[in-house]
Amino acid sequence: MLKLQDLTLHYGHSQILNGISMEAAVGEVTCVMGTNGVGKTSLIKAISGTHPRSGGTVQLQGEALGILPAHKLAHKGIAYVPQGREIFPLLSVRENLEIGFVCLPPSAHFIPDEIFDLFPVLKEMQNRRGGDLSGGQQQQLAIARALITKPRLLLLDEPTEGIQPNIIQQIGDVIRLLRDKGEMAIVLVEQYFEFAYDLADRFVVLRRGEIMISGTKETLTKQDVLKGVSV
Ligand SMILES: Nc1ncnc2c1ncn2[C@@H]1O[C@H](COP(=O)(O)OP(=O)(O)OP(=O)(O)O)[C@@H](O)[C@H]1O
Ligand SMILES: [Mg+2]
Repeated sequence: MLKLQDLTLHYGHSQILNGISMEAAVGEVTCVMGTNGVGKTSLIKAISGTHPRSGGTVQLQGEALGILPAHKLAHKGIAYVPQGREIFPLLSVRENLEIGFVCLPPSAHFIPDEIFDLFPVLKEMQNRRGGDLSGGQQQQLAIARALITKPRLLLLDEPTEGIQPNIIQQIGDVIRLLRDKGEMAIVLVEQYFEFAYDLADRFVVLRRGEIMISGTKETLTKQDVLKGVSV
């Protein structure tokens, strides 16, 4: 589904990613791990078009993607749930979800029942302002908004950061369900090791902008992955 080759990224003159090659398959969770500042968010930004890559190639289902802005990539089926959620605090929950409609034809401008089945709390709170939700509920809203666009590739950047345990568990259940439906590839950036290890089918561990370890759950032991993420 997603194939990166030799991807590089700069902020001004400083090179942050150096030759990242990785793949993510449909029906799998590919977990990007690594300590603070290694370039996890930058990698997700390069894939989503939020920040342009400076080199390398990105393919989605065999189609080479140029260096496109985020809204063009959203139309191609790439959905991005940013670190820190970035929901619109003054819009209602329903209005936040409706933002995803921009990627869809007019005939699909409705919120599918499936979204509220996955996140019942959003149904109850659909007329409340996004800013009035708890952090965990906002994270659920951000994931739901991404799903509205019917993505082929879902990018999640640290969905458990600063969130209470019962909602972390619900988010894990949703990720597992989406994976098992087999309709999208999921790339999950996560520093909460047990959560990530549990969900992941494939690992990419970064260190200082390079891949330190990568492989599947079959080819890598838990110790290998743990060693990669410890400083
Ligand atoms: N807009 C920017 N301009 C300049 N440097 C940046 C910018 N964004 C990030 N960086 C730097 O790039 C490096 C990688 O940052 P990035 O946010 O990708 O790391 P991360 O692995 O996601 O970290 P964290 O675990 O804290 O979220 C860091 O050294 C960071 O300071
Ligand atoms: Mg980050």
